[in-house]
Amino acid sequence: SLHTLAATLSRAEEGGYAVGAFNVSDLNQAVAVLDAARAERSPVIVQAIAGFHPYADEGWWWDRLRELIISYHEVEVTLHLDHGRTFDDCARAIEHGFTSVMIDASRDVVTDEPASYEANVELTRSVVELAHPRGVSVEGELGTIGGAEGGVSGVVEDIVLADPALAADFVERTGVDALAVAVGTSHGSVKFTTDEGGQTLRIDLIREIKERLPSTFLVLHGSSSIPPEAVATINRFGGILPESYGIATTQKQEGIGSGIRKVNQGTDSHLTWTAALREFLAARPSEVEPSAVIGVTMAAMRDIVAQRMREFGSAGRA
Ligand code: 13P
Ligand code: NA
Ligand code: ZN
Repeated sequence: SLHTLAATLSRAEEGGYAVGAFNVSDLNQAVAVLDAARAERSPVIVQAIAGFHPYADEGWWWDRLRELIISYHEVEVTLHLDHGRTFDDCARAIEHGFTSVMIDASRDVVTDEPASYEANVELTRSVVELAHPRGVSVEGELGTIGGAEGGVSGVVEDIVLADPALAADFVERTGVDALAVAVGTSHGSVKFTTDEGGQTLRIDLIREIKERLPSTFLVLHGSSSIPPEAVATINRFGGILPESYGIATTQKQEGIGSGIRKVNQGTDSHLTWTAALREFLAARPSEVEPSAVIGVTMAAMRDIVAQRMREFGSAGRA
């Protein structure tokens, strides 16, 4: 069943856990995520990025995704637009029945340079004015999260950490339900060249923002852990991924303990999906049956998502 982000995250706030937001770009991935949620009895956020899907028609894909979610009657799902870049991205998602949208106005959509604070406030507020009367939640972003994903470019050096005083002003002026805070994470499969002793997150900053904004749901982006075994499998079977370190599970859990309520994960699913595909095709060079190939990727994705649900404390909460 469909729920707003605000409803799902208020329960997480009460329970002191976080809900995973998993990126999907086709129906098979969505089934994998929903099956994991059902098996773990976990609430879940299914998120899609505008323009990132293999289908010709975005509206068709979004409608099918929504129907699929509704068919999982017993699973509590938020259908969320990840990294909407324009007012129109958010308006289309709302029209297609998304229960939550992110407006990421942290970068100018034309120049891709970090946007001015006032421009971010203005665009974000206009999306809230559209969404709230329609019963849709809104996530905004303050600061700049580095890395590359879904047309959101930028490199790690581009990271501009969220400023707690500005965060309070931003929420007051925009009315967002949830806030993506740049606290040291970065998007994509190439994150950090060392594991920095597993201390990449600015927990102090999360605490400070939470203190100023007790009723805003804080969101961690770029939270994938980059499982070394998935990278190794990909590279063993023909891939060429560089050595890279993500966010340690213990760091994410400390972030959740400090007030993070939504944890965005795309890359870990993608790496696990790709590793399973490469390994399967290498092991079965005469396999040509699509159902076998797709089935193996779905199972791998379901398992990593289920593991994340247990780590974030959302398993058993639905
Ligand atoms: P990862 O690339 O670390 O999975 O981050 C995903 C994300 O933040 C989606 O918005
Ligand atoms: Na961003
Ligand atoms: Zn993100």
